[in-house]
Amino acid sequence: MNNIPNTSQADPIPETARLEIEELLSTGDLFRYTNEQSAVLNLEQNFALRIGTSYALAVSSCSAALFLALKALNLGEKARVLIPAFTFGAVPSAVVHANCVPVLCECGMDYRIDIDDFLCKLESVDAVLISHMRGHTSDMDKILFHCDRLELPVIEDAAHSLGTTWKGKNIGTFGQFGCFSFQSYKLLNSGEGGMLVTDDPDYFAKVVVMSGAYEHNWKKHQGEKEFFEKWQNLLPLFNMRLNNLSAAIVNAQLPYLNQRVENGRRNHDITAAKLSGSEWIHVPEKFEQEARAPDSIQFNLIGLTPPEVVQFCDVINAMGIKLQIFGLSKDNARAYWNWDFLPEKYNLPKTREMLRNACDVRLPARLSLNDCKNIAEMILEALRQVKNDVAA
Ligand SMILES: Cc1ncc(COP(=O)(O)O)c(C=O)c1O
Repeated sequence: MNNIPNTSQADPIPETARLEIEELLSTGDLFRYTNEQSAVLNLEQNFALRIGTSYALAVSSCSAALFLALKALNLGEKARVLIPAFTFGAVPSAVVHANCVPVLCECGMDYRIDIDDFLCKLESVDAVLISHMRGHTSDMDKILFHCDRLELPVIEDAAHSLGTTWKGKNIGTFGQFGCFSFQSYKLLNSGEGGMLVTDDPDYFAKVVVMSGAYEHNWKKHQGEKEFFEKWQNLLPLFNMRLNNLSAAIVNAQLPYLNQRVENGRRNHDITAAKLSGSEWIHVPEKFEQEARAPDSIQFNLIGLTPPEVVQFCDVINAMGIKLQIFGLSKDNARAYWNWDFLPEKYNLPKTREMLRNACDVRLPARLSLNDCKNIAEMILEALRQVKNDVAA
C-alpha cells in the first residue's frame, strides 16, 4: 500500500520558537540561572497555570522528576514503593536510583493496575508510584481512597498523560507529585526534558534545591522564601535542571496542547473503532471518569496462537507499520521480566498474559484521519493474511 504513514515523526516545532531560540543563540544565555526571568521559569509558570497546580519545576527528564519526588518524600533506605508491573524500565530504575525497592503490582488486560493485587500489596509498602502507562489511567478513585486511608504518599507518573483528565481534573495533580515527560514521543517535545508539579510548598522547596538550585538560585523559582531557607544547604544537589533552549521549545508548543489532545483523541478513537470490528482484536474501554489524550493505540490480540502472534507482528512490520508487542521483542524495556536490575524478582501471570498479546502503535497528533484509517486497514489486512494462511 502507498503512503505508509510515518508514525515515528513528531509534530513540527511551531515557528514562534525560532525568535526566542535566535535570541538565546545570540546571547548564549542557555543556563536558567543567568537571568532573573528565564525561558525555564516562563515555562514553569505557564505549565503550572495550564495544569492547575501551585508549583512546577522543569527538569532534565521525567525520570529525574520521579527520582526527585521520591527523594523529597524522605522514605528512607530500602523503602518499598509500589509501581505497576506494566510501565517503562525508567520507572523502576528511578525507584532503585532513590535507594528504594520497587514492588510490582499486577496489571490487567486493560493495561491498568489490578486493584485486587494493589490491595493485597498496599499494606506492605511505604509509597505508591502510579504510572498511567501509555496514558491509560488507573482507577484513581480507588487508589486515592486506599492510599489516604493508609496515609501513603502518591506520585503520579504522567509521562504519557499530559492533557488527560479524571472527572475533569488533570492527571498529575492528584498525588503529592505529578511527573511529565518532554521526550520526543510525547505531546510536548523538546527531545529530552520533564516537569515535576506539586501543591506543597515544602516539597517544592526540597525538589528545587535538589534539582540544582545551589546557593540562592531558589530565588529564580516559584515558591516561598521561608521553605527554601529551611532547606538551604541541607540537601544534596543532583543537578537535573532544564536549559533555556529546551524550555523555549516546549513553551512554543504549550498553546497548541489542547489542539494536540483533541487530534490525538480523534486519531485514537477512529482507529479503535475500525479495529474493534475485528473478531481477533479487543480494544479495552476507557473509564467513564477519564478523558484521554492518547499519542498511541494499544489493543489485544484474541484467539491467535503464539506462532500466529509472531507471524502477525512480522507481516505488519513488513508492510511498513511499526507495531510492537511488548512481551514479544527481545529485551523490551516495558516487559518486567527484562528488568534484571530489580532487587526482588516477580512472576505476575496477569501482566505477563497481557504483555504477550498487547500491540502498540504510535499515533502522533499530526496524523490525518486518512493516515489512521490506512493504519487500521493494514492491521486488519495483516490479520486476515495470518488467519487465511492458517485456514489454507
Ligand atoms: C511511563 C513512562 N514513565 C516514565 C518515562 C521516562 O520519561 P523520560 O524519558 O522523560 O525520562 C517514560 C518514557 O517514555 C515512560 O514511558
